[in-house]
Amino acid sequence: FLYITMVLLTNDIIVTPTEAVDLNKFKQCNDQSFCRVNRNIEDDPSRIHYKIVPSSLHIDTEGRLQADLIEEGLADKEGHSDREHPLSLEIRALEDDTIRMTITEKVSVTKNKRYQVNDVLLPNIEYAPIKTLHMSSDNDATFEFGRHSYARIQYRPFKLDVFVDDILAISANERSFFKFERTLTHPAPDTKWPEMFRDHPDSRPRGPMSVAMDISFIGTSHVYGIPEHTTSLALRSTRGNKINDNPYRLYNLDVFEYELDKTTALYGAVPLMLSHDANKTVGVFWLNSAETFIDVSDGINSKYTHWISETGVMDVFFLTGPTPLKVFSQYAALTGTTALPQLFSLGYHQCRWNYVSQQDVEEVDSGFDDNSIPYDVMWLDIEHTNEKRYFTWDKANFGSPKDMLAKIEAKGRKMVSIVDPHIMREPSYYIYNEAKSNKYFVNNNKGEEYVGYCWPGDSSYIDFTNPQARDWWASQFAYNKYQGSTPILYTWNDMNEPSVFNGPEVSMNKDALHYGNAEHREVHNLYGFYQHMATAKGLVDRNTDKNDRPFVLSRSFFAGTQRFGPIWTGDNAAKWSHLKAAQPMLLSLGLTGITFSGADVGGFFGNPDGELLARWYQAGSFQPFFRGHSHHDTKRREPWLFGDPYLGIIKAAILRRYTYLPLWYTLFYQNTLTGAPTMRPLWVEFPSDPSLFAVDNEFMVGNSLLVVPVVEQGAKTTRVMLPGGDTQTWYDIDTLKRYFACHMEVATPLDKIPVYQRGGTIVPKKERVRPSTKHMVDDPYTLVVALSATQQARGELYIDDGHSFDYQKGQYLYRSFVYNHGKIQSSSMDNSAVYKPASTVERIVVMGVDKRPSSVTREGHNLPFEYDRTMLKLTIDKLYIPISSNWLIEVE
Ligand code: GLC
Repeated sequence: FLYITMVLLTNDIIVTPTEAVDLNKFKQCNDQSFCRVNRNIEDDPSRIHYKIVPSSLHIDTEGRLQADLIEEGLADKEGHSDREHPLSLEIRALEDDTIRMTITEKVSVTKNKRYQVNDVLLPNIEYAPIKTLHMSSDNDATFEFGRHSYARIQYRPFKLDVFVDDILAISANERSFFKFERTLTHPAPDTKWPEMFRDHPDSRPRGPMSVAMDISFIGTSHVYGIPEHTTSLALRSTRGNKINDNPYRLYNLDVFEYELDKTTALYGAVPLMLSHDANKTVGVFWLNSAETFIDVSDGINSKYTHWISETGVMDVFFLTGPTPLKVFSQYAALTGTTALPQLFSLGYHQCRWNYVSQQDVEEVDSGFDDNSIPYDVMWLDIEHTNEKRYFTWDKANFGSPKDMLAKIEAKGRKMVSIVDPHIMREPSYYIYNEAKSNKYFVNNNKGEEYVGYCWPGDSSYIDFTNPQARDWWASQFAYNKYQGSTPILYTWNDMNEPSVFNGPEVSMNKDALHYGNAEHREVHNLYGFYQHMATAKGLVDRNTDKNDRPFVLSRSFFAGTQRFGPIWTGDNAAKWSHLKAAQPMLLSLGLTGITFSGADVGGFFGNPDGELLARWYQAGSFQPFFRGHSHHDTKRREPWLFGDPYLGIIKAAILRRYTYLPLWYTLFYQNTLTGAPTMRPLWVEFPSDPSLFAVDNEFMVGNSLLVVPVVEQGAKTTRVMLPGGDTQTWYDIDTLKRYFACHMEVATPLDKIPVYQRGGTIVPKKERVRPSTKHMVDDPYTLVVALSATQQARGELYIDDGHSFDYQKGQYLYRSFVYNHGKIQSSSMDNSAVYKPASTVERIVVMGVDKRPSSVTREGHNLPFEYDRTMLKLTIDKLYIPISSNWLIEVE
């Protein structure tokens, strides 16, 4: 209710609780000149073409290719000023088969330099000098980079073609949509500059500064990525399509009751697009933090895209793959991999707006124990504070937070409290005072503290783009500053798009001013990224040994957010359609580096019935971030309130999540090595099968589990497609029954979610039921071996202490398990790993063993075993071999 009231205050079209998002509140391409002008460029008679000045093209001493770009025609005229102020083009090759193209003004004509994104790219990117330039004709030059790629620059009109294995893969400015609006030097704004949206003026004091270009992906019909949107995984065309003619929009916004199947903006933005066909996977990363629109359309044997950003420099990376896994690692080399989560954060999280008091927290906590349901984290939403003053507690209901935290800690669990970026403007509030006196708030266009309306009422917003403000913010998490906090209290950063209830599009005015005189329009999509960064640092710094990995959930995000912590898909709804939409949304996030993500289980708005809730737990338990959450107007929905059969089904789903935690933890570790998403589209695992390229109702967990969430109400059966060639085996994880690749209709009574382990994989599990991850540390492992048709399988297991940074000093274990024609072997994947956990391998279950073995031996000793002829299952139990030792077991 509170939320609705606030929204009403914005003077915009009135939203009632039953209505969905009011799209009128949000801008479309046509509402803004920068997008309109660029989008209509094809039909613009005065459109400018650009060309390279051939004599300027050279490779500098550091192996960077440089050239001047000038406007065609105009610039040819002797003495035209654009000759003196050309654009500079720079192309650099990276170690990892990627090239970076940067275009900006050669000479800055105003004191405000065009904004270039900092802090998103890793500091240690390795460039590989470009060695030679071959002048292939009088209108183009080529250069080689990486192991299998080269690029060709056409001078007139300017175009860049990127070839992978001699095949043209990406063509930039093929259609001559390149546009670069020069910074203007006018002393006063042109009358055309200010723009109005609803009641909100944007003074646009620096004039039009857009950058745009077309980029074609050749030989493909599928492109992916550019979250966050609610459309399908394979991006649909936005031009020549009657249903939806709006380009994909990247502009972080707090969208109330968002709609599905829309290209409109949501909470976060990652300007990375992937394209995939049966021969190759490539990517384009458009590093720009201003509002960006992307059109997608069908070209001739290609996908056309058109990228339009409101301001900034043009900084584009071309990732040449050519495999999906290569693109993931190329992108990880630019923006980093996912911070290795603490093990607890892969368990189940219980949240609600709000658990209202310490007693409430204790009762919910006990409810899990009473029902023998494991969970790891109890969450506190905004009402736990003293009237939305973050870093404080509501005295009446949370009078002794340390006692509460101690009780939760004694159960081996953690808590999370919410800390939003808007700060109540109240002189007695220490956070406000400190930020004010240090000038750490964002300013309005007049240089005064920006004031916006949010949960606490009138609020100011920390300027997280300021490095000193970030350090100050981080220091607020010190235990002596954040009174009542203890080491088991972690953080949730919400409303960080930022959300401003009375601002344009429920966000901040674009002409607000940040650190270094940057306009909000330039940094908008980075606001949440920087808050997330600062909070994560605070959680590390608060401990003297700085040896506890941070956990911070953010709603807003940008490229690189994965380095700081998870995100979730915001305020979804308790509807079947939203359960279904979670899959493509999470898959798109994973493809663009943000693999630690989840959707509110049960749906935030509205009341799920038992069936929907049960189905949501089943799906959510196989997704990376697994948290139940709900709006304060909804009915309480702790699992035990639903009775049978729902309670049992929800409990089974959560229990199953805990059994697969060794797999999840290993996948997250592997992400730190490779950048590969933990939750993957099918085409990542089966890249040469075009029938899978648009599949988003099924997904893979790593390379081993195939999950088919049931997202239809009352579905008695569900259509399942098991991919792979004729000999690909799959095993139903409930029945262990073996299937070969096929399409089939599977019975899905409420207790059944179809999940299959892929033949050829070995999955580590822990099968004891425990209250939380902390109690599982020393529990023994079960290895589930799913044999391929050729009686082979392999898998890995990563272990460390689950919480510290000691793994970076070798305190971990990375094991490989291989099954090859009856020989099962465990060995170390990494000899620098020295961790010695107490756990053992207790049991090995082998699925797909066609005949009863005559013996199972280890080092010449017979081992007892069981064989199930109908299920083709071999079980070797009670082994208790230390997990860190090498061993060989032979099945004959
Ligand atoms: C926002 C968040 C939601 C949270 C609420 C109150 O709507 O998306 O998760 O519960 O604010 O803090």
